[in-house]
Amino acid sequence: MNAPIKAPGLVGVISGDTEVSTVGKEGLDLTYRGYSIRDLSAHATFEEVAHLLVHGSLPTTPQLSAYRDKLAGMRALPAGLKTTLEQLPPASHPMDVLRTGVSALGCMEPEGPEVRDSADRLIASFPSMLLYWHRFVQSGERIDETAPGEDTVAGHFLQLLHGTTPDPDHRRCLDVSLILYAEHEFNASTFAARVITSTRSDFHSAITGAIGALRGPLHGGANEAAMDLIGQFSSPEEADAGIREMLAARKLIMGFGHRVYKESDPRSDIIKEWSKKLSAGHERAHYYPVSEVIEKLMWDKKHLFPNADFYSATAYHYCGIPTPLFTPIFVMSRITGWTAHVIEERAAGKLIRPTGDYVGPQPTEWVPIEKR
Ligand code: ACO
Repeated sequence: MNAPIKAPGLVGVISGDTEVSTVGKEGLDLTYRGYSIRDLSAHATFEEVAHLLVHGSLPTTPQLSAYRDKLAGMRALPAGLKTTLEQLPPASHPMDVLRTGVSALGCMEPEGPEVRDSADRLIASFPSMLLYWHRFVQSGERIDETAPGEDTVAGHFLQLLHGTTPDPDHRRCLDVSLILYAEHEFNASTFAARVITSTRSDFHSAITGAIGALRGPLHGGANEAAMDLIGQFSSPEEADAGIREMLAARKLIMGFGHRVYKESDPRSDIIKEWSKKLSAGHERAHYYPVSEVIEKLMWDKKHLFPNADFYSATAYHYCGIPTPLFTPIFVMSRITGWTAHVIEERAAGKLIRPTGDYVGPQPTEWVPIEKR
């Protein structure tokens, strides 16, 4: 056995091998199975990336068409799941709705012999779960969750959200965002999924745990927190003053910084372009210059850069997506990366179980209950 290494937060620890992606490796882009995120976000659709991550290769044209048909055929929810969703309190956070939805589906349709089918079922049905619940609590409507006219995950989501055919720019912006969020090596939620998988637990348990980890504002929840931050300011000047005050008070500025990246997050510039494009003519167009001022100030004052969450926030806002649905979009995408890691972890087969340094009381004499 190797000598123990103490690394709070597991900073700098390499906990295993992966063939899925490269994050922050010297001289290498962010890549999914060798393909640069720049190429994927410029040329691919999310379904191609999902096929790459879940099924191991970029699809050919007939494979992509069959994959889209497969996913479209898996959108309908079991009646029991709809009943479960209807019973959740209207004030539930949508991340809790998805976490519950996966857990309930794991009881109704437990993992079978092919985990990739369970993964495809979740890729196809996350928008259905989320928006069936959202529309039900907003208006009492029981929508058709299958959105038959839309053949992509992005189109399915937007069609169910707005009840109309999506604007093509909004559809592509969301599609690009799904590509950017799909995979990121041993991040906290993926690691949570790997820990659960390493106990030889089932797929739905791993994904339920991963959603719980992603929900926090230091991880996926930062896109919602970034929107709340940007939304406070009505001009770039106000943002400049407000962020200076927050920094002086040593507050965290959400959507900035990263555990692995030290100079920039390659996903940020790509989604930033979409935020800029969609801001034109929008009634809250000022959010974009507000964001740019915050970006510049954070770099000048703290040498911190926007991560994937910062400009995603305004890009989503400009697509008419309510803020509480931002982090669930991350789930709709990251399910692909989580699945790739669940499959990889199963092959690795080693229980993940670190140890802790004990810093509690010294051995203490037992005190009977009547004497405490
Ligand atoms: N705002 C202000 N200061 C920051 C920020 C920030 N967003 N991020 C880091 N810092 C500061 C820390 O306060 C710390 O300063 P100190 O040395 O004076 O104490 C220093 O930079 C180092 O930061 P750590 O927290 O030690 O870095 P760590 O690697 O542990 O954390 C994290 C990374 C959690 C992402 C952090 O940068 C953060 O909290 N950012 C805001 C939340 C966020 O945007 N999360 C999204 C992550 S990306 C994703 O999930 C897609």
